[in-house]
Amino acid sequence: MNARQAASIGQVHYAVSQGEKRPLAVKVQYPGVADSIRSDIRLVKPIALRVMGLDEAQVRPYLEEVETRLLEETDYKLELRRGTEIAASCAHLPHLEFARYYPELSSARILTMDWLQGEHLKEFLTTNPDQETRNQLGQALWDFYMYQLNTLLRVHADPHPGNFLLRAENGGTVGVLDFGCVKEIPADVHRLFNALLAPETLADEARLAALLDETGILRSTDTAERRALYVRTLHASLELVGRPFREATFDFGDPAYMASLYALGDDLMQEPELRQQREPRGSEHFIYLNRTYVGLYALLTELGAHIRTK
Ligand SMILES: Nc1ncnc2c1ncn2[C@@H]1O[C@H](COP(=O)(O)OP(=O)(O)O)[C@@H](O)[C@H]1O
Ligand SMILES: [Mg+2]
Repeated sequence: MNARQAASIGQVHYAVSQGEKRPLAVKVQYPGVADSIRSDIRLVKPIALRVMGLDEAQVRPYLEEVETRLLEETDYKLELRRGTEIAASCAHLPHLEFARYYPELSSARILTMDWLQGEHLKEFLTTNPDQETRNQLGQALWDFYMYQLNTLLRVHADPHPGNFLLRAENGGTVGVLDFGCVKEIPADVHRLFNALLAPETLADEARLAALLDETGILRSTDTAERRALYVRTLHASLELVGRPFREATFDFGDPAYMASLYALGDDLMQEPELRQQREPRGSEHFIYLNRTYVGLYALLTELGAHIRTK
């Protein structure tokens, strides 16, 4: 059992169906999880706000966003519905596999589905898969995420290695697990996020500033220095995060790319003005969008996949 499973809110058991002897995965939630999430948040929130010097009204939308996702994760009926819908919408995408759910063997706290074959990324990589296989797996993940982000406007927002089972069969197949954390993307948020990532925005500082005004990252009350600081740091972030989109193919196998993403995060933490920043800014919807992109990029980097990004 890895750390992630140990920290998770349920346990997955292997089972076999009675008639057809079909292999099943039965995810059983520990009792009282939703209540303990609620009471942990109630307990920790005021202390965290005080220690970090944050104002409750200003951080409320961000906390609510995270609370909502955490509580949704305890609702296995919702997970079953979203998992079923996303799997159906993505059925045409190649080299992906989804577990079929059994509603009659599921409830708010128990989720029964087909058992998928495959290994988690780390174990899979110890089998030394060839470059073509790694590319095909990476491509399948990329296509899956881009379709969700840009067409479905709802996305499996937890691209953690524990949530995928990889196989070498048919040149590489990705089994997708765990629809507990799904982010629904409002259309205006989608438009804004993609506009920020667009190459034209990077080349046009006035346009970038206008978009940052729109997201609430810049405010009319900001000094010129502060505006310049935000424009500069966001330009650097967007240049990096958007880089795979500016080329027809992208080699996530070059470790320098992910290293510079992490280094940028560290640099921003060093910036005294940003460190002292006590009012979070920008749309709360960006929290899970950012996490999804960074998680996806990290997976593709570990896979060492070279993929078509357009
Ligand atoms: N359908 C399945 N087939 C095979 N293994 C599964 C299946 N569902 C879950 N697992 C195993 O259980 C682990 C935890 O399942 P997951 O749905 O991610 O639960 P959690 O919501 O607790 O993260 C997975 O990493 C995987 O190893
Ligand atoms: Mg999981």
